[in-house]
Amino acid sequence: MFANALVSFEQMVSSYPGPLMLVTILCPDPHFKKRHHKRRVVQKPLVDSILKNLHPGGQVFLQSDVLEVALDMRNQFDSHFDVLEHITDIDPSVLCDNEGWLLINPMGVRTEREIHAEFEGAKVYRRMYQRRI
Ligand SMILES: C[S@@+](CC[C@H](N)C(=O)[O-])C[C@H]1O[C@@H](n2cnc3c(N)ncnc32)[C@H](O)[C@@H]1O
Repeated sequence: MFANALVSFEQMVSSYPGPLMLVTILCPDPHFKKRHHKRRVVQKPLVDSILKNLHPGGQVFLQSDVLEVALDMRNQFDSHFDVLEHITDIDPSVLCDNEGWLLINPMGVRTEREIHAEFEGAKVYRRMYQRRI
């Protein structure tokens, strides 16, 4: 399915028959200009909808090669530690750098943007959250 997550995520997920166990947001468009930030995919209504629908134990994986975008996404999910834990607090074998970014992609599959960014020598900033049980 292809859809604008800002418009259709809640509708799609609420009619999904199985438990929602994984949401990935992978190198979303950065929309650098301040007046275009409203086009960024990670916004409060989407975060609220993910949290509302995510099954206990379900995970949210975020990554971006743009630090500003990664921080923006991270700040929005870090503000929900009542509902979410970061994966490194659950599994000490998952390692982070000093700033709390995952050292490896735990998905085991790289996206096109990720491959391109790493080929160019860029860092990819990653966070993985799990809904508290
Ligand atoms: C830079 S591309 C990255 C593509 C792929 N995820 C990767 O990492 O190679 C950004 C992607 O975000 C998608 N995207 C941006 N805003 C979106 C939205 N509101 N809903 C769904 N997808 C969106 C675009 O369609 C595009 O495929």
